[in-house]
Amino acid sequence: MFADQGLSGPAAQGQPGTSDRYVVIGHPVAHSRSPQIHARFAQQTGEQIHYDRLQAPLEGFVQTVREFIATGGRGANVTVPFKREAFALADQLTPRAYAAGAVNTLSFLPNGILGDNTDGVGLVRDIEVNASFPLKGKSVLLLGAGGAARGVILPLLEAGVAHLVMANRTLSRAQALVAELGDSLPLTGQLQACAFDVPTDRFDLVINATSASLQSDLPPVSARVLSPSTLAYDMMYGAAPTVFLAWASGHGAQVRDGLGMLVEQAAEAFWVWRGVRPQTAPVLDWLRSQL
Ligand code: ATR
Repeated sequence: MFADQGLSGPAAQGQPGTSDRYVVIGHPVAHSRSPQIHARFAQQTGEQIHYDRLQAPLEGFVQTVREFIATGGRGANVTVPFKREAFALADQLTPRAYAAGAVNTLSFLPNGILGDNTDGVGLVRDIEVNASFPLKGKSVLLLGAGGAARGVILPLLEAGVAHLVMANRTLSRAQALVAELGDSLPLTGQLQACAFDVPTDRFDLVINATSASLQSDLPPVSARVLSPSTLAYDMMYGAAPTVFLAWASGHGAQVRDGLGMLVEQAAEAFWVWRGVRPQTAPVLDWLRSQL
C-alpha cells in the first residue's frame, strides 16, 4: 500500500522543449487558484509545465482521470469532492496520504498512479516557516473531525507537537477518528478526542478545521483556550478575517488564515512532481493582493 519503493519520488520529467501537463480536478473547479499558483512556480523555476482546471462530472471522476492520463497528463491535484475517490484510485499511497485517508496530489508514473497528500505538510510549513511558530513541544487544539482535520494530524505529530486535542461538535466522530488513527500511527497518547466543552485551558495553537466559516458560523468553543501568545489558525481564508479569526483576535490571540497553507500545499505538490522547490513568499504576497 505504501510508496516505499517503486512509485515514490519525484516524477520523471518529459522531453526537453515540451510542456508537461497537470490539472486540478474538482466539481466545481472554476474558483480554484491552483493554476495561477503553479504558473508562478513554473515561471520562477523555469520548469516547463502547463497547469489547467478540469471539472469532472460528479459521477465521473475516475473516467476523467483516465482520459487525462490517456492524453499524456503527468499529474493532478484533486479537490472537493473527489479526494476520497482519488485515494481509492491510486495504485500506491504515501504514508501521509494513507494517514489522511484522502489524496490531493496524483502522479501518473509509467508503472501506476501514486497518491499523495500535501495538505498537512502545507499547514505545518505555513505555521513553522511563514509564521515563524515552531511546533515542537506545543499544545494544539484542532477543531473539527472531518477530512480537513484528519489530513493534518500526522504532519502535526511528526512536527513534534506535545499534545493534540481534537474537539468536534459530534463527539463520536472525533472518538472514532482517534481510535482509527491510533491503530495505524505510532501514537504515544498525545492525541485525544473531546466535544467543544474542551477540558483544558490555553493552547499554544488553535486550528479551525471545521467548515463552520463557510456558513459564517463560529465553533462554540470557550475563549479560555486562548491566550495572548496563542496562534489561532483558520484553514479558510478570504478578503476579510473569518468569524473564527475575528473572535480570536477579539480575545487577544495572534491570528492567521489558510492562504499560506494553500500556497504551501501547492509548492509541495510541485516538488513531488518536479523535484524542485519553488519560493512561496512572493506567490503568497501576490495571492494576498488578489483577494
Ligand atoms: P471537510 O472535508 O471540509 O473537513 P467534512 O468532512 O464534512 O468537511 O467535515 C466538516 C467538519 O466541520 C466536521 O467536523 C463538522 O462537525 P460534525 O462532525 O459535528 O458534523 C464541522 N462543522 C461543520 N459545520 C459546523 C458548525 N456550524 N459548527 C461546528 N462544527 C461544524
